[in-house]
Amino acid sequence: MHHDQHVQHDRIRLPQLRERITSAAQAATWIKDGMTVGMSGFTRAGDAKAVPLAVADRAREETLKITVITGASLGGDTDRQLTESGALARRMPFQTDPALRAAINKGEVMFIDQHLSETVELLRTGQIAPIDVAVIEAVAITETGGIVPTTSVGNSASFAILADKVIVEINTSMSPALEGLHDIFIPKRRPSREPMPLTSVSDRIGTQAIEIPPEKIVAIVFTDKPDSASTILPPDAETAAIAGHLIDFFAGEIAQGRLTESLMPIQAGIGTIANAVVSGLNEGPFRHLTMYSEVLQDSTFELFDSGKLDFASGSSITVSDAKGREVFGNIERYKDRLVLRPQEVSNHPEVVRRLGIIAINTALEFDIYGNVNSTHVAGTHMMNGIGGSGDFARNAYLSVFATKSVAKGGKISSIVPMASHVDHNEHDVDVVVTEVGLADLRGLAPRERAQRIIDNCVAEPYKAMLREYVEEARRGGGQTPHVLEKAFEWHVRYRETGSMLP
Ligand code: COA
Repeated sequence: MHHDQHVQHDRIRLPQLRERITSAAQAATWIKDGMTVGMSGFTRAGDAKAVPLAVADRAREETLKITVITGASLGGDTDRQLTESGALARRMPFQTDPALRAAINKGEVMFIDQHLSETVELLRTGQIAPIDVAVIEAVAITETGGIVPTTSVGNSASFAILADKVIVEINTSMSPALEGLHDIFIPKRRPSREPMPLTSVSDRIGTQAIEIPPEKIVAIVFTDKPDSASTILPPDAETAAIAGHLIDFFAGEIAQGRLTESLMPIQAGIGTIANAVVSGLNEGPFRHLTMYSEVLQDSTFELFDSGKLDFASGSSITVSDAKGREVFGNIERYKDRLVLRPQEVSNHPEVVRRLGIIAINTALEFDIYGNVNSTHVAGTHMMNGIGGSGDFARNAYLSVFATKSVAKGGKISSIVPMASHVDHNEHDVDVVVTEVGLADLRGLAPRERAQRIIDNCVAEPYKAMLREYVEEARRGGGQTPHVLEKAFEWHVRYRETGSMLP
């Protein structure tokens, strides 16, 4: 047999589907103007890499405007190409691309910023426009036509189940050994919905592949582009300080008898700060840790290698180039300690509450009462989106938000009188931490929260400015005192002068 035929044989095990192999350009013709397209991809992992670009090519030549729904962010420059070609009318539920961000903030692309666990529930119940075509990256197609995802599950399973037509991109750069890593569980429709039978991070409750009627697969495209590497930066002095404060806090909780040395299952958001915190767990008095998170970053595999981590559950693996070669080149070494789930399972409020997650997410800014803004710069301009942070924060055993105390060289204070947009309100936030220090807000009333946040988390000169604000606010009384005339004065000053400093 010819080499290509061997590959096709191994990767498409249901023979009748081999005749659906085609080019990306040909496959993209299934996508028509006005359609809603569900694409695989979660924080740069496991995204469809060829058909979306072929869609962008077509949109440069003809009228083609579509709604794109993904798991989370896409890799490469897919979102940029879709944006610049004019193909994107609507986009949900998360993105991180600078060109798309600019188009969103100009009002050219309608962006629906959504809790990541909720998108498929809305689709399943017809509360948003249905998926016409799903484009799913796969390692292989099984004997029964099941789609084996690659480095993420995200929303892929429900997209494939709910779509009229499915296009599969088989990525030959992805090791066949990834098969068996995934656990595809789809909840029953109401009123037959049952409790999600997941009581331990390592439980497997579903199937290894996405089972759909094979006749729905209308096209199969072969690709060989690896995932885009993670863009996180190595820990710096400040992220290391944030990690250090949290490690001390956890050690204190152990000393008080509220936690054991295995803590509780950890969720950590994407990004440099979250990665530094998880790396920092290597230094503390911890053993037999577990993770129940959405994105598994480099730090997860560092903890595996140091023997501190027993099991990690996520919806995607997003790692640097170097870590990627190590992990995917030796996936068998990790496979029995790893599982990738649909994001509605990895982020499920019921499971997060049951397991008692320690949720560590990142803020753009938070206010003196602990309301957190993770998404909108100065209250108006979208950064990335809420992602899964809300799924975890509201239902966590302990909800932590971290940020550096200032941004843009000190011109922006990350702690402000009033958050200019609220993603996580004071009721969902237990601990806030900056490089300056950590504020444990549990059991505190708003007036006490303000005191502790300003004392522990803020550096001068913003510390003195916040003290002054709070004093004035208290004279007006209230459960949560504010000077409404001045609450956004810092943001206005930043807009007008480029700095929050007077
Ligand atoms: N106002 C304006 N810009 C701010 C800011 C503020 N208050 N605070 C930070 N920034 C800027 C930084 O200067 C930096 O800009 P740059 O990219 O031009 O350098 C950028 O925001 C990122 O900040 P950084 O401190 O490097 O943190 P990060 O990479 O960890 O990202 C979030 C922080 C909040 C943007 C990011 O974590 C996020 O999108 N969170 C929401 C989604 C989420 O929590 N997901 C978790 C589950 S997936």
